[in-house]
Amino acid sequence: MYEEIQKTASWLKERMTTNPKTAIILGTGLGQLASEITDSCEFPYSEIPNFPVSTVEGHAGKLIFGKLGGKDIMAMEGRFHFYEGYNMKEVTFPERVMYELGIKTLFVSNASGGMNPLFKIGDLMVITDHINFFPEHPLHGKNFPTGPRFPDMHEAYDKRLIALADDIAKEFNITLQHGVYLGVQGPTFETPAEYHMYHLMGADAVGMSTVPEVIVARHCGIKVFGMSIITDLGGFDTPVEVSHEEVQKAANGAQPKMTTIMREMIRRA
Ligand code: HPA
Repeated sequence: MYEEIQKTASWLKERMTTNPKTAIILGTGLGQLASEITDSCEFPYSEIPNFPVSTVEGHAGKLIFGKLGGKDIMAMEGRFHFYEGYNMKEVTFPERVMYELGIKTLFVSNASGGMNPLFKIGDLMVITDHINFFPEHPLHGKNFPTGPRFPDMHEAYDKRLIALADDIAKEFNITLQHGVYLGVQGPTFETPAEYHMYHLMGADAVGMSTVPEVIVARHCGIKVFGMSIITDLGGFDTPVEVSHEEVQKAANGAQPKMTTIMREMIRRA
């Protein structure tokens, strides 16, 4: 695995014309941020040696190198979900490559189901912490030399970056929620009982990504900022149906706010 990561990183290094320290994972419905990247150079996942290929609807599947908020950045348009059938090493392969390329800060976004009664559909939630509820751990197996065997997770999401997001939100008059994101394997959305249980466990939102990527990024010493769009609500008295289309629609509606926060954060971080 380590050799494959090195090979992929050298393949990219030979072709990259910038030296980004910042990476972004563009989750569901965040295409708008990708369209703001200038001077871009793109690599479809299918052309990158050893890269898994994304299959889910709405995810294009490419690495973009370019400029955003005045900084050199690397963006992943489309991520690898465990429910697609990838193992955790594949899901988190890009973060391993990011480390080899010299990335120091990672911005992640996703869509999630809100369980906090104060949340509304379309809200943005800054991820302050997570609960790993995936059935397989991304660090399972031989330890990679990027970090310790038993990595600390007391500040998986960088407090300074969270404070910066709050400042920017205030400046732009954007309301931000804060909360704990619980990562599940999917692909089913939760039953009402499951939403209820996850909320009792201390989670404010539930989704099918992010947690493995963040764990590996932290194992590589990469600082992380994460933000979630609340696309549906669960665990309340009246259960409501959730669909992928609905999730996409709510995510698209919240795009402008998310784009502003992310762009400004990248500019100032
Ligand atoms: N559950 C899990 N994943 C999700 C949800 C949800 O309610 N909404 C968007 N992604």
